[in-house]
Amino acid sequence: MIRVGIIGLGFMGKMHFRCYKANKNVKLVAICDIDEKKFADTGGTAGNISGADKPLDFKGVSLYTNFDKMLKEAELDAVSITLPTYLHCQYTLKALKAGVHTFCEKPMAMNVGECQKMIDAAKAAKKLLQIGHCIRFWPEYAKLKEIVDSGKYGKVLAATFQRLSLTPTWSWDNWLLDGKRSGGATLDLHIHDSDYVQYLFGMPKEVFSRGVKGQSKDIDHIVTNYIYDGKVVTAEGGWTMKPGFGFEMSFNVMLEGATISYDCTRSPVFKLAPAKGDVIIPIVAKGDGYSIELEHFVKAVSGKSVPQIITPKDSLNSVKIVLAEKKSCAANKKAALK
Ligand SMILES: NC(=O)c1ccc[n+]([C@@H]2O[C@H](COP(=O)([O-])OP(=O)(O)OC[C@H]3O[C@@H](n4cnc5c(N)ncnc54)[C@H](O)[C@@H]3O)[C@@H](O)[C@H]2O)c1
Repeated sequence: MIRVGIIGLGFMGKMHFRCYKANKNVKLVAICDIDEKKFADTGGTAGNISGADKPLDFKGVSLYTNFDKMLKEAELDAVSITLPTYLHCQYTLKALKAGVHTFCEKPMAMNVGECQKMIDAAKAAKKLLQIGHCIRFWPEYAKLKEIVDSGKYGKVLAATFQRLSLTPTWSWDNWLLDGKRSGGATLDLHIHDSDYVQYLFGMPKEVFSRGVKGQSKDIDHIVTNYIYDGKVVTAEGGWTMKPGFGFEMSFNVMLEGATISYDCTRSPVFKLAPAKGDVIIPIVAKGDGYSIELEHFVKAVSGKSVPQIITPKDSLNSVKIVLAEKKSCAANKKAALK
């Protein structure tokens, strides 16, 4: 049983609360939020994740408004940093310096320099650092990776990924709609697909992106062509959709011997159409990417062996890709990734 804390009890903090409470190997002992009112709001998170709407029960959990005090008193083995992105680096450094294994939400940080500081701090402290790139653990995306890597259906010819959301008007202090604190939809939302493209195909040589600015005053809708030899890979992401649209994440992957597609708004959400024969609905792991990535973290913290699904360096590279995408938009030409 490991002792875990959470800092930032907003949308994702509540999601982590639910995941840790459901994990038998975790004792959730402390939560910190700068805004005391958050402790009176025991409503669950919205969304279509099973159990996410259940009310929070703070029994046995110490509540703090000061992170240093929590680190000093709560005897934590591990902590989740579910704070706005511009605070990720600062608070991850505090946690690691206090000798606490750290799970920090994606994106890792606002820029590559901050990401590197976080990597260095984890090394110096000899503690684990995992970044919340939940799509690598999302059952259908994990299965897609397994099928592509198996080579059973040949090479990938082309792949497209989409992640489209209504404009997020709900964040604390409206930080999401301030590009200087969130990086806009490109760094906050679209990075899920940039990271997954990297996971599936390795680092692209170059990116070519077109984007438009939105309410965050940063790029809030983007389309990117990730340049690889022998295949065409694109992703589209943004949060300029109107409220009635809701949320859509989807992909189509064209292999030599099959088409694999996923669309969270469709039923069945996931299907594989082989070159010959009937459509197959692949069996995927139970649960959602949030629970599975935190189970992975808890196992690693507990000293159990886990497959290498994500490293801090991968997470730095995803920030690097997204920043190259923004550079490409600004220059209206390809941006190289060294
Ligand atoms: N993995 C995913 O799919 C996913 C989804 C949503 C958000 N996120 C990420 O999670 C992070 C948090 O996003 P969110 O939507 O939960 O934000 P949010 O605005 O809902 O919550 C942020 C919380 O942090 C608290 N806070 C702010 N400053 C603080 C401080 N100095 N000390 C303590 N508490 C403080 C606020 O009071 C608020 O409760 C972001 O990095 C975001 O990109 C990830």
